[in-house]
Amino acid sequence: MNYILLGPPGAGKGTQAKKIVEKFKIVHLSTGDMFREAKKSDPSIAALMEAGKLIPDEIVVNMVKNRLKKDDVKNGFLLDGFPRTLKQAKELDKSLKTENIKIDGVFSIIIDNEEAVKRISGRRVCKCGASFHIKFVPPKDADKCDYCGGQLTQRADDKEEVVRERLSVYDKQTKPLIDYYKNSGLLIDIDGLQNEKIVFEQISKFIENGR
Ligand code: AP5
Repeated sequence: MNYILLGPPGAGKGTQAKKIVEKFKIVHLSTGDMFREAKKSDPSIAALMEAGKLIPDEIVVNMVKNRLKKDDVKNGFLLDGFPRTLKQAKELDKSLKTENIKIDGVFSIIIDNEEAVKRISGRRVCKCGASFHIKFVPPKDADKCDYCGGQLTQRADDKEEVVRERLSVYDKQTKPLIDYYKNSGLLIDIDGLQNEKIVFEQISKFIENGR
């Protein structure tokens, strides 16, 4: 089973991805996580991310193509944050065709911009990968991770002005993918304003029913 999670910043892609890959035992492929790792040794990537801009298509596509050649994706994968431009989507289609891989569905998680800003400005993350929200998903102990006790911090691209830029980039460059996947019959709309448990139940049902 191979799926794509599509949605604006703050839609809950990362939150849902963690639960989906755990339940369905598939691999989580998050380009955001890959670039957060890459930016530690590449200042040009760090600068683009911290300004809320996209990494050039060529770099992203090559990285994902190489990742899709690894053995662990054979039992299924979940793409989170990729594709993000029409060029990326078309390149993905080409390479899936070459590798003889099929996408079962594209979950489009829908929220509005004001909710996105509220969610992202309150997000706190831990080095272990856990993510919290100071109001909606609060850690038991303020500023400490529930899972490993690590210090929670704010992502460098989560300041309000950068979030607004990321949302505008999403509108211009990523939103056209909704029609692209609607036309290919793969799109599944999910109301991302519902609480995360309900969102997860709805996504799980689609996957269990083979969609
Ligand atoms: P990426 O890491 O992919 O960021 P994003 O798409 O902007 O998404 P976010 O991680 O901000 O949000 P999310 O939808 O995962 O929400 P989350 O679950 O955390 O990309 C970062 C950057 O990397 C890009 O800007 C770009 O520079 C680069 N990049 C990555 N991929 C690229 C690509 N393909 N091409 C080019 N560049 C690329 O939830 C957010 C908050 O809300 C959390 O606090 C959470 O606890 C809370 N929350 C979640 N669900 C709910 C709910 N249902 N109700 C209430 N609160 C909720």
